[in-house]
Amino acid sequence: MRIVMTNQKGGVGKTTLVFHLATLFANDRKSVLVIDLDPQGNLTSCFLRSDLPPQNNIALVCEDKRPEPITVADHLDLVGTDSSLSRYENHDPMDHLEAIGSWLDTTAGYDVTILDTPPSMGLFTRGALLASDFAIIPADVSWFALKGLADLVKSIEILRASHQTSIRLLGIVLNNVQERQSFAQETWAVLDDQYGYLLFKTTIPESVRVREATSQGIPVTRLNPRGKAAEAYRQLYKEIVSRLQTV
Ligand SMILES: Nc1ncnc2c1ncn2[C@@H]1O[C@H](COP(=O)(O)OP(=O)(O)O)[C@@H](O)[C@H]1O
Ligand SMILES: [Mg+2]
Repeated sequence: MRIVMTNQKGGVGKTTLVFHLATLFANDRKSVLVIDLDPQGNLTSCFLRSDLPPQNNIALVCEDKRPEPITVADHLDLVGTDSSLSRYENHDPMDHLEAIGSWLDTTAGYDVTILDTPPSMGLFTRGALLASDFAIIPADVSWFALKGLADLVKSIEILRASHQTSIRLLGIVLNNVQERQSFAQETWAVLDDQYGYLLFKTTIPESVRVREATSQGIPVTRLNPRGKAAEAYRQLYKEIVSRLQTV
């Protein structure tokens, strides 16, 4: 099963969510592969504190070679990337899309593959959407984010309707929610109205611990397991697992 984390807006918490979900699946003894398709390489840095060896870089796919997953934790493998990926972003899109899809087919042995995408609707995001079973959209509390969200949900529906992919939107999660911020509650209510069951009940609070977690490469569920952010990620994970069992 492949899950893609996507939103063409940057800074909404895609990478942070991949980092935490992957860890939670692995803690549950699921075999997990995470793939970093963003040339910024933030996900790669979360899992790997040293430079990424070239043989573990997804950029190899664009040269018709096969990257090898590197084990970064128990039950958890990574195919990472770095800025070298950016040179392929605008090259021969069709060739690379096919290459990404057929390489992904060789990774079917994992229980869960989670793909992190760049903040754009470019080649790598489209490749990931075409090759995935489910999409999760993290969104933050802002007017622009809500507007962009409608476009993104529509793009996923169009892709699905085109029969090029069987991707389904698993859900939308509101991130960076400040307690006592009435705007956040209003936003949640607007989204609930618009997207109904697609909106996850759990929201992720804004927490300095989350920022520390990504910069230290330690999930907040380990850094501060009793904190609100850790509780929220665990709760969201449960919602995701139960939704996966019913779709
Ligand atoms: N709930 C949160 N509370 C505080 N900081 C957060 C939260 N979620 C993400 N961040 C921080 O915001 C920044 C952007 O998050 P990131 O996951 O990289 O977004 P994206 O991948 O969508 O660009 C990172 O520094 C991350 O640590
Ligand atoms: Mg990111």
